[in-house]
Amino acid sequence: MNEEQRLASQQAINSKSSSANTEKDYSKYFQSTYTAPSLKDAKKRGKEEIQYHKDFNIDEQFMGMGTGRKFLIRTYGCQMNEHDTEVMAGIFLQLGYEPTENVEEANVILMNTCAIRENAENRVFGELGHLKPLKLKNPDLLIGVCGCMSQEEAVVKKILKTYNQVDMIFGTHNIHRLPEILNEAYLSKEMVIEVWSKEGDVIENLPKVRKGNTKAWVNIMYGCDKFCTYCIVPYTRGKERSRLPEDIIQEVRSLASQGYQEITLLGQNVNAYGKDFENRQYRLSHLMDDLRKIDIPRIRFTTSHPRDFDDALIDVLAQKGNLVEHIHLPVQSGSSDMLKIMARKYTRESYLELVRKIRAKMPDVALTTDIIVGFPNETEEQFEETLSLYKEVGFEMAYTYIYSARAGTPAAKMQDNVPLEVKKDRLQRLNAVVNEYCGKALKKYDGEIVEVLVEGESKRNPDVLAGYTRKNKLVNFKAPKEVTGKLAKVKVTEAKTWSLSGELVEVIASEEVKV
Ligand code: SAH
Ligand code: SF4
Ligand code: F3S
Repeated sequence: MNEEQRLASQQAINSKSSSANTEKDYSKYFQSTYTAPSLKDAKKRGKEEIQYHKDFNIDEQFMGMGTGRKFLIRTYGCQMNEHDTEVMAGIFLQLGYEPTENVEEANVILMNTCAIRENAENRVFGELGHLKPLKLKNPDLLIGVCGCMSQEEAVVKKILKTYNQVDMIFGTHNIHRLPEILNEAYLSKEMVIEVWSKEGDVIENLPKVRKGNTKAWVNIMYGCDKFCTYCIVPYTRGKERSRLPEDIIQEVRSLASQGYQEITLLGQNVNAYGKDFENRQYRLSHLMDDLRKIDIPRIRFTTSHPRDFDDALIDVLAQKGNLVEHIHLPVQSGSSDMLKIMARKYTRESYLELVRKIRAKMPDVALTTDIIVGFPNETEEQFEETLSLYKEVGFEMAYTYIYSARAGTPAAKMQDNVPLEVKKDRLQRLNAVVNEYCGKALKKYDGEIVEVLVEGESKRNPDVLAGYTRKNKLVNFKAPKEVTGKLAKVKVTEAKTWSLSGELVEVIASEEVKV
C-alpha cells in the first residue's frame, strides 16, 4: 500500500471518532481533548455499511515511543476483553514497550474493564483507588481505563469527578488508536477521553501477543443486536459486525501452522454470524464447515444464542472431527414469562425443543449454560421452573448470577419486589443443583480414557499438569513437563466435583487426533 492510500485509510478510520458522536459538555470538569460516550447514541443502529480495513499500520512518528518503558494491562470480564488485551499488548510491543507484571515498574497501566454487573465495576473503582499512590510516586506513570466501562457515560463522569489519577479513557471501538491516544496523553498532561458511541469499522491485521501457544482466540464477529433487557453489552460493543470468512479462515490456518492446537471462535452471539453480509449467504454453519477442513485438533465457539441456532449448524457440528461436542447455550431462565420480559425471544418449550434437536444429532454433546436469578419480580414458582429446566436438560456446568441492574437498560427501570436475601437464597439453591450435576457428569468418566490438551502446570499444584478434554473438563495428572502443549490420553482415576484426576497413558501423535 502506498503512502497516499495509507493516509486515506487512516483518515477514514479516524473520521469515525468525530462524526459518530454527539459531544457532551464535560468541560465543567476538564478542558481536555475528548469524545465522550452516550448510551443513547450507542443504541442507534444505522444501516450504514461496515468498512473493512485490511491494513492496520502504526504511524512512523510513534515508533520507538515505548523504548525504555514498560506496560501492564489488567483484564476483567469475558474472553472478548482477554482477546482485546492481546491486541493492545501487540500494539505496545510494536511501539517498543516491554511487558511487566509489576505495577511498581510499569510506565503505563491499562485497566481493560467489564460492565456486565455492578460488582465487576466496583472492583475496577477499588483498583483505581489503589493505584493513586503509585501516581504520586511516579508522575510519569500513565493510567488508562478502557473496555466496556469506558463506554458508559456515568462511568466516565465518575472518573472525571473522582479519579484524577486517570490519564486516558478510551472505549472498545478504538483500541487500534492506542498509539495516538498514548501520544496525546504524554503531550497533553490532561485526561484524554476518546470513546466512540458508534462502533468503528472492522480492522484486520492488528498485531497480537497471544497468551500461551496452545490455545488461541479468534474473533468472528463484534457487537450484539439482541438487546436482552438486562444487558449492557449491545451498548458497550455496538451493532453486530461479522469479519469476512476469508480473513477468519486465513487466521485459523496461520495459527494451525504455528502449532496452535485449539481455537475458540469469539462473538457475543456467534449464531448471528454473517447476518450482516449484504452480498453473500454465509452463516456460522458455512464457516464451521470450512474450518472443519483445517488441520487443527479442536475448534470451539462462544457464545451461542439459542434463538439463532439453526438446523444447518447442528448438522455441521454433528460431523465432529475438529468441532468439539460441547455447546455453551445460555438459557438465563426456565420460565417463559421471565424469558419474555428478558426479551430473549424464545420460550422454555422452544429451548427444550432445540436441546432435543441437538441431542438427536449429537447424542454425546455436553451442554453448559448461563443463568440469572432474581430478575425483577421473579416469583418462587418461576425460579423453580429454572431448577426444573436445569435438571431436565442435565447441564454439565453453569455460570450463575444474581441479576444486577445496569443503568440505561430497560430492566433497570423495572420495579423489583424480590428482596436481596431471597435472590441470594435462590442463587445458593441453584448452585447446589449445578454442583450436583457437574459432579454427576464427571463421575461418568471414572476409569475412562480421555483426550486432554495439556496446558501446563496446574494452578493449584505445580507438581501436576492440567488440561481440558474436548468437552471442556479440567483434568489434572502427573506427567513430565514436556507433555505441555500436546494432546495426551489420560486414564481417569478420580472424579471430583469440578475436575478429574488421572494418569498419563500416552501422548497422542498428531495424525491420530481425528475423531
Ligand atoms: N452474549 C452472551 C452473554 C454475554 S454476558 C449470551 O447472550 O449468551 C454473560 C452472561 O452474563 C449472560 O449470559 C448473563 O447470564 C449474565 N448477565 C448479563 N447481564 C447481566 C446482568 N445485568 N445481571 C446479571 N447477569 C448478567
Ligand atoms: Fe447481552 Fe443478550 Fe447480547 Fe448476550 S445476546 S450479549 S445477553 S444482549
Ligand atoms: Fe464484560 Fe464487556 Fe465482556 S461488559 S462480559 S467485558 S463484552
